[in-house]
Amino acid sequence: SLAQLQQQPADALLALIKLHNADPRADKIDLGVGVYRTDTGATPVFACIKAAEAKLLAGQDSKAYLGPEGDMGFVHALMPYVFGAKDPTMGGRIDGMQTPGGTGAVRLALGLAKRAGYRRIWMGTPSWPNHAQIIADLGMELKSFVHASKTGFVDMDSLRFAVGQAEPGDAILLHGCCHNPSGIDYSDAQWDEIAPLLAAKGLLPILDLAYQGLGAGMDEDAYGVRRVLAEVPEALVAYSCDKNFGLYRDRVGAVYVMSASADQVGAALSNGHALARAAWSMPPDHGAAAVRLVLEDEALVKQWLAELDAMRDRMRQVRARLATAGMAGTIDLSPLGSQNGLFSIVPLTAEQIMAMREKHAVYMAGSGRINIAGLTMGNIDKFIAAVADVTAG
Ligand code: LMR
Repeated sequence: SLAQLQQQPADALLALIKLHNADPRADKIDLGVGVYRTDTGATPVFACIKAAEAKLLAGQDSKAYLGPEGDMGFVHALMPYVFGAKDPTMGGRIDGMQTPGGTGAVRLALGLAKRAGYRRIWMGTPSWPNHAQIIADLGMELKSFVHASKTGFVDMDSLRFAVGQAEPGDAILLHGCCHNPSGIDYSDAQWDEIAPLLAAKGLLPILDLAYQGLGAGMDEDAYGVRRVLAEVPEALVAYSCDKNFGLYRDRVGAVYVMSASADQVGAALSNGHALARAAWSMPPDHGAAAVRLVLEDEALVKQWLAELDAMRDRMRQVRARLATAGMAGTIDLSPLGSQNGLFSIVPLTAEQIMAMREKHAVYMAGSGRINIAGLTMGNIDKFIAAVADVTAG
């Protein structure tokens, strides 16, 4: 009976949104869920998206269904940015479909892997909590390795050991860039080592690219994805536009399949269509249509890339300021200076994280993850002082 369903705790990360909103203190700082903020703490709609939405409003003549694959103009327009302008389909071996956000993309990628007979997924931890949740919900087995050391470096030995232990026919889930939650990415040289390792072992790479453009740049952030795809016969890429187009609640993502040969990709994707039909039938259209209209217009593309540059610059400034602060109590903030994207981990204990919230009105995830974009030149000193305070004595 339905009475058997036990009360579940709210998702810890999403619960922070409400906790922060309910806090009456004027100087509260939200470093929880991953949304970009300006130096005044706003999360504005991108100007390029506003322009595209105006076009959409004026020009859209129907809202009739498109099908489980969504807006294929959107799916294809993104491909040169993800896979490179030279050969974005890798000779016809890559195609994709639209998904509801990055979560929909990860869900579909893992669902496709499961349909294809994959049962075990290797993944570096910590990872985005939803990864493990989706793997568990699909009844797949999660095998973990250490993504990075507490001192802020990628743990390549752990990855090498994991790949050594893995069996051909296993899959491996890697973050393409802006690792969530650590901000610790593989260097190009490390990707150069990882790509042939995966190929030699016959692992299926599942690459999650949710923050392209927020690390070092659009091409720079795609290095790992492109490097791996150049090396292996087959791969899946989960993509999100939620952050790099600021479309969060409109839920805009895509999943891409790279098959061993061009004649296999259609059949593989038809399984994605079937999975989507059984789950959400068709993805929401609006955000993806707006992204397509940006990507089809040279001036809007320029504006979009400039907006991304500004976001990246601001986050670099915040990181530089944290790095300059150096020690805050017992915590060394300097490694945050060279980390990437929206997130980093401040290695506080659970009690210290609670004290950050209760005593200082600083909201951060239970993992110690902070949203770098929640810091501004106006609140960063308060944050650093709070870290020093909760770690003192
Ligand atoms: C995050 O990690 O904060 C974002 O990816 C939002 C989410 O859905 O968890």
